[in-house]
Amino acid sequence: MDIVATPNNPEGNPELADAAPTPHEPAIIYRKDYRPFAWLVPETKLDFELGLDSTKVTAILSVEPNPQAEASGRIRLNGDGQAPLSVKVDGEAVNSWSVDGEDLIIPLSAESHEIEIATQIDPSANTQLEGLYASNGMLCTQCEAEGFRRITYFPDRPDVLSIFSVSMRGPADQFPVLLCNGNEVARGTTDDGIGWADWHDPWPKPSYLFALVAGNLVANSGTFTTMNGREVTLNIWVRQEDLSRTDHALESLRKSMKWDEEVFGREYDLDLYNIVAVSDFNMGAMENKGLNVFNTKYVLADEDTATDADYDAIEGVIAHEYFHNWSGNRVTCRDWFQLSLKEGFTVLRDQLFSQDMQGEAVKRIEDVRILRAAQFPEDSGPLAHPIRPDSYREISNFYTATVYNKGAEVIRMIRTMVGEARFRQGTDLYFDRHDGEAATCEDFVKAMEDGAEVDLSQFRLWYSQAGTPKVEASLLHSGDTTLLALKQEVPDTPGQSRKQPMVVPLKVALFDRDTGKHSGEQLLILDEAQKGFNFTGFDKPPILSINRGFSAPVTIQRDVPRDDLVFLAANDDDSFARYEAMQELVVGHLVAAARDSLSDTERTAGEDAIAQAMRAILADEALDDAMRGELMMLPSQTYLLEQVARDGATADPGTIHEQREGLKALLGARLAQPLRDIYERVANVPFNGEGARGALKVKTQVLTYVAASDPETAAELAARQYDQADNMTDRQGALMVLCGLDHPERTHKLLDFYTRYRGNALVIDKWFTLQALSLHPDALEHVKALAEHPDFNLKNPNRVRSLYMAFAGNPYAFHVESGEGYRLIADLILALDPINPQTAARFVPSLGKWRKIEPNRSELMRSELERIREAAKLSRDTYEQVARSLD
Ligand code: ARG
Ligand code: ZN
Repeated sequence: MDIVATPNNPEGNPELADAAPTPHEPAIIYRKDYRPFAWLVPETKLDFELGLDSTKVTAILSVEPNPQAEASGRIRLNGDGQAPLSVKVDGEAVNSWSVDGEDLIIPLSAESHEIEIATQIDPSANTQLEGLYASNGMLCTQCEAEGFRRITYFPDRPDVLSIFSVSMRGPADQFPVLLCNGNEVARGTTDDGIGWADWHDPWPKPSYLFALVAGNLVANSGTFTTMNGREVTLNIWVRQEDLSRTDHALESLRKSMKWDEEVFGREYDLDLYNIVAVSDFNMGAMENKGLNVFNTKYVLADEDTATDADYDAIEGVIAHEYFHNWSGNRVTCRDWFQLSLKEGFTVLRDQLFSQDMQGEAVKRIEDVRILRAAQFPEDSGPLAHPIRPDSYREISNFYTATVYNKGAEVIRMIRTMVGEARFRQGTDLYFDRHDGEAATCEDFVKAMEDGAEVDLSQFRLWYSQAGTPKVEASLLHSGDTTLLALKQEVPDTPGQSRKQPMVVPLKVALFDRDTGKHSGEQLLILDEAQKGFNFTGFDKPPILSINRGFSAPVTIQRDVPRDDLVFLAANDDDSFARYEAMQELVVGHLVAAARDSLSDTERTAGEDAIAQAMRAILADEALDDAMRGELMMLPSQTYLLEQVARDGATADPGTIHEQREGLKALLGARLAQPLRDIYERVANVPFNGEGARGALKVKTQVLTYVAASDPETAAELAARQYDQADNMTDRQGALMVLCGLDHPERTHKLLDFYTRYRGNALVIDKWFTLQALSLHPDALEHVKALAEHPDFNLKNPNRVRSLYMAFAGNPYAFHVESGEGYRLIADLILALDPINPQTAARFVPSLGKWRKIEPNRSELMRSELERIREAAKLSRDTYEQVARSLD
């Protein structure tokens, strides 16, 4: 029996270990089992003899007993796929070590020692892309969360902080650039062509923040002078052919550094900041100290190859990783259950930054849309977990929308309740108090309480209770008084039932029906199951605008007259609330339609109201186009499906698709003239001209309506837009519309796009995605053909996602009645799991929705999950997600 050592059971103590793990039943790790590690590792020296197929690693760890932990007569070092070549203690070779599961155990008396371990790894064979791996002839690392143990034996847990010194060498022609964390101490080339470099990072850090890069790279370099006058060299490292697409990333880095000084008082703490772009990467980017490693997708951009959305995403991710230098690196996490401590907080920080850079209204709407598309379904499904989970089998499965995006919303609520100034006092205290430590979510909340002077006792439930709270709102009017009655309910989630009422901060405003104005926004705190609030001075029942700015991550349920929503969609002075009114209007209508509970009169009334609201949005001259583009967007099918499947009901994806497309066609037909007028206006806004971004957004939005009502005209307009495009936003938008049409222009332009951008991986990814996401009736066949395309490659995560993640999100093709779409995704999971388990496991949630779907499809989805579960050898990642989805 293997005894699995974990951060919580570091010594692999059998009493603490769970019931015997089998290959199919990886052990469950519990937050409550956390114990500090028995040893401190004040210093770590690493030596690398680099080669693509074979790299030799020698690690020297100085260790001493941890006074905060129980003494132990041995040290357990985590490994993964390692075998020690040699082990020395205090300079003497020892043979008394043993291997337990994947870990190395060395007997050790309870005093200071120096441990030296040599291992050898094969970076080219590392298709998991965790640890040290080869990508395009270069070497790079990804260590979060538990990748460092694939490089060498180490206490690979975030609460063991060490000062790292690194020496590396390798063929200079192959690896002219050698990078590591911190500062370069020395470098050179020997007479026989071996390049070498020594690096030192003065800041103690956990192993997950280690990084090393070796390759043939060039840098776009710049400088930034910090608020205290430290001059920092900035480098964006890429392959020679990508250098011309790095200016935006460099500029984004400068802006992030400046903003974090101004808004959070955070200054950078090294003389060097390196960012390296790699094309094979599991995630978006990684905040390794002084040496961020990025997916090329979040670095490279120019007008011909990147959309406005790509530009914004790059700015946001560069900021996110930079902000981690404080929220994550200077103050890190005690254990992985605390992941939201750094991720939720850092997402909030990057959102606030992007609001300042890109405009608050639109950014807030985009962030809420992401939350609803990714986090709400998670919170209402089998994988629901609190932002601070209580247990896991594989931590990689917990890099979720809940930990990241809901985590950000939770901290945003604190900020909303205490205001910006006191929030800043709280974050100042947090950074000050915990600098250099591995902290917990509780530490953060406590620092907020002390620094911002607020009681967060009940608020802490947001960290422990999963599920999206439902708030019911109703207005009762009598005389000149209106009572706003609020009720909340937190739904049951796996392992959690009978929940306590949460603290829900709701920004509200009441519009006077006669004047069309409100007399100020108020913040109401709903902290009981039911609570009423009285408002006086209204002759007639007022119009309620609630959860303005999306002040709380909840669903609001209310019975509201359609006309009130039409009024708010046209007049609400809170941009988010205005967007929300339009969404509510459409959601209410489509949900009823999909449930087949609309009478003919109701259908007509609903359609009329939506058309009237949309007409007002198109005509509103005070509205800027970026906001108009948001207001024009219909709720996604994913979100509609969630709403139809509320309260245990099931949804028919086919019906939802039909109803939504039907509404688009109806709006396209009824608003044909204003849509054409607006298209003509925005088509004349020059790229790079004033208001161009909004214009581009509206342009493609218009085309989606025309495509539904008048495909021939849409094909013509889209083909022209494609041909005349002088930027990727326009070109991609046009191609997106064409992809959904059964028209010869579709084939022409797809071919043109492919030939034009052949060899540019990020743009070819778009080409795959547009086809996989399209509403074309043959999309499923297209996807099957694309999987056989010579440019398709299971080993590159971006390419896999570009085809299959897009397909799994295709509301129509994924759900074809035969179940073929489900089979395709299950086959992919099985094929990808042995290559890259982390990426394979990310596809499981698409099938895990089966409980929300009508019985026939539901059964097909469930049986695909069962087929996966039966597979002979499943990774821990995929096993965990499938098991939870079937439970
Ligand atoms: N800390 C990184 C970020 O959010 C993500 C790393 C994810 N790694 C993983 N193995 N899931 O910026
Ligand atoms: Zn992060």
